[in-house]
Amino acid sequence: MIKNIKGTKDLLPNATYNIQDIEQHLNTFMNIHGYGEIRTPIFESTELFSRSVGEHTDIVNKEMYTWEDQNGHSLTLRPEMTASVVRAYIQNKLWKQEPISKFFYIGPSFRRERPQKGRLRQFHQFGVEALGSQYPEQDAEVISMAYNIYNMFGLEDLSVKINSLGGKDIKSKYGKALQKSMVDFKDVFNEQEWVRLNNNPLRILDTKNKNLKKIINENAPNIFDFISIDDKKHFNKVTSILNSMNIPYEHDVKLVRGLDYYSRTVFELTSSELGAQDALCGGGRYDNLVAELGGANIPAIGFAAGMERLIIAMKLSNNDTINTDIYIINTEENYIEYTMTLADKLRKEVGIAVHTDTLRRSIKSQMRHANKMNAKYSIIINKEIFKSSKKLLIKNMSDNTQEEISEDEIVNFFQSE
Ligand code: HAM
Repeated sequence: MIKNIKGTKDLLPNATYNIQDIEQHLNTFMNIHGYGEIRTPIFESTELFSRSVGEHTDIVNKEMYTWEDQNGHSLTLRPEMTASVVRAYIQNKLWKQEPISKFFYIGPSFRRERPQKGRLRQFHQFGVEALGSQYPEQDAEVISMAYNIYNMFGLEDLSVKINSLGGKDIKSKYGKALQKSMVDFKDVFNEQEWVRLNNNPLRILDTKNKNLKKIINENAPNIFDFISIDDKKHFNKVTSILNSMNIPYEHDVKLVRGLDYYSRTVFELTSSELGAQDALCGGGRYDNLVAELGGANIPAIGFAAGMERLIIAMKLSNNDTINTDIYIINTEENYIEYTMTLADKLRKEVGIAVHTDTLRRSIKSQMRHANKMNAKYSIIINKEIFKSSKKLLIKNMSDNTQEEISEDEIVNFFQSE
């Protein structure tokens, strides 16, 4: 038997039902904030991700699905969407049309990580990207949107962490200081961690190694002490706006995030409902990325969130089945055409959900199925009654009352229900 690839999931109708509902809420949420949907291809030139996410990040180093096409062009399934949005923004020269562009997206991303609860190889992200504003109110808008989305879905145990990585050169200055501060503790590092400290020192702050974590907490410098006065002013204004909007947050001086394109504000939302993979969403400013990828000097900020992690945190259980409003019960082969036409007519003219049996089952099992689908009504085509009076039996499934309705009254009947 051919099976799905490890770390991917089939979403059956009982699961997509919840996802559709979440997506509808997200669409409305984004629209009332003035963010328009962008859909970009799920594969891009590999170079797009190596240049934006960063050569030495875990994502680019070991997690991308990359292959060569027939022309020797290196392609990659997107591991995240920010790079693609920026590419599309540059390619369409959008800054020439509007001083600010606000996008949202929902779609699959791919990372070859070790699968576990809340961590997949094909997962789904939703997120926003706002390109054009350098001002802290833009940061506050994006952070508050992330927080308010989880609030909208009823999540309570949320923690918002924010920090500033400062402007362009701060990360490399800080990285050097971090490396220096760790020299005396080389024996606590394993080989991989030591390589990481040399190639991408900031990532060491995310280590899961308890001993190393302790050493870092006690000895590593804070990036916040390296940033400029302007960076601090920016940060303070962001937090002042968040305070006024009643968005709770914690300033975490160790938060640096794992992608290279960030500068200034970075943030993450976590939930205690999630276990080891506790990041619901993450984001930050990437003021240099548009220029670095060949566009104009356009500042930007955004976040992305894992759909699967939202669903875990919401503790949604799968629906048993799709529901219906009306179940038409027919057992006569002669009336199949009539049944199908009536179903279509009710869907079109009344706009309600109608189900018909296509297994030619007995009345009893059709009725059982109608109950399972939580039908509000069933329409029973009884051969004798229909033949003599062109009437149908309408059964109210909640109180079990029945009445006969003439076939030309049926649309009116359900329209007035
Ligand atoms: P990220 O932190 O790499 O940021 O991913 C964002 C979110 O995607 C995570 O917080 C998590 O919820 C979800 N996620 C990531 N990897 C997996 C996985 N393997 N399985 C399940 N869920 C996962 C970004 O992707 C940036 N593009 C965010 C951003 C947008 N920054 C600025 N704009």
